[in-house]
Amino acid sequence: MRDDTVRGLERARQRTAALTEFDDGELTRQHSPLMSPLVWDLAHIGQQEDLWLLRGGNAAAQGVLPRAVERLYDAFENPRATRVDLPLLSAVEARGFLGDVRGRVFDALERTPDDASALFPFAMVEQHEQMHVETMLATHQLRDGAPILGAGTPVPAGRPVPHDGVLVPAGEFVLGVDAADEPFSLDNERPAHVVDLPAFRIGRVPVTNGEYRRFVADGGYDEPRWWSTVGWAHRVSAGLVGPQFWTADGAARVRFGTVEDLPEDEPVQHVCCHEAEAYAAWAGARLPTEQEWEKACAWDPDRGERRRWPWGASDWTPALANLGGTALRPAEVGAYPGGASAYGVEQLIGDVWEWTSSGFEAWPGFVPMLYAQYSAPFFGGDFRVLRGGSWAVDAAAVRPSLRNWDLPIRRQIFSGFRLAWDVDV
Ligand SMILES: [Fe+2]
Repeated sequence: MRDDTVRGLERARQRTAALTEFDDGELTRQHSPLMSPLVWDLAHIGQQEDLWLLRGGNAAAQGVLPRAVERLYDAFENPRATRVDLPLLSAVEARGFLGDVRGRVFDALERTPDDASALFPFAMVEQHEQMHVETMLATHQLRDGAPILGAGTPVPAGRPVPHDGVLVPAGEFVLGVDAADEPFSLDNERPAHVVDLPAFRIGRVPVTNGEYRRFVADGGYDEPRWWSTVGWAHRVSAGLVGPQFWTADGAARVRFGTVEDLPEDEPVQHVCCHEAEAYAAWAGARLPTEQEWEKACAWDPDRGERRRWPWGASDWTPALANLGGTALRPAEVGAYPGGASAYGVEQLIGDVWEWTSSGFEAWPGFVPMLYAQYSAPFFGGDFRVLRGGSWAVDAAAVRPSLRNWDLPIRRQIFSGFRLAWDVDV
């Protein structure tokens, strides 16, 4: 188990390096007030690793960096828009700091018992770094100028698949996980508890660019009736006319600096929750709740138990879901028949984060983890839960129980959605 932790930390660091192997000018630029300069993410990754793994979360203890410098990397103290103006470490200094911390962490890891509870902080920090890798990919997507990330690795082709709703019959299932099932699950995924849901249908595949373009062409952005009150107000004030990064005519998109024809059969991405809800209303549907999403993803109704992944217990491979961040894009719908859930729902894991209709709340019996401010400050706020991870997520940082959350106006993230429908009984 400890060897897996070492490999996971190393994999995260390779991904970090690949997204930050550029000169200082590139790394210190702010591409959007929504994002940090990449050099901030870089040093913040090391600061968090130092805090949780070398000091046990004790912020009062002296870390590797002087106190005044370390404070620059406190995410709560420094909103993203302001980080570009801070006297940040240079890229060279940040890389040196990360290497210094990592060496000490591996020394500490050698002295750590080879069991899940002792290794949890290391796995938590690995997931933290992987989350920042995805954030840095979103920063790269917002960047102007000639492409610097390449075209991405190939993904399996799609196949013809019905864009229908799969029936999930009424009944109880187990929502969430315990440490015994998923030792490296984060606090907000726990504990496992029984939930009873009415029958519903859920989209077999996510909504595609081609489908979404019909909504746009049908005047969906001009019709307040499809939008919630708050969603319409945002549509107007932000001037939304289509998904972010689409060209004005909806025929093409910009992806990591390259303009390319809009792929009809890829899941739509870079839509906010308000846009997802408006599309759903236009289509005579709604968004799933996160409970519905998780049941469709993880529950095996024949065995009456959860699956580790939608496809079963086996580890992720690139044939099962689009994860790992190298594709730089979602795969077409139908690309992963082997990754279907017990109910036959496809592409729940990877490709695009999926907006749900649920606000971010604690499961009953919630207990904060070592990083106590990870979830708790955000419960009950104006956030919506997203599920399933995107193509930019590493397999170590997503599970059927994993819960992401963001403001319903956000769309620089790799977000899409699938539909759901009530079932008359
Ligand atoms: Fe962070």
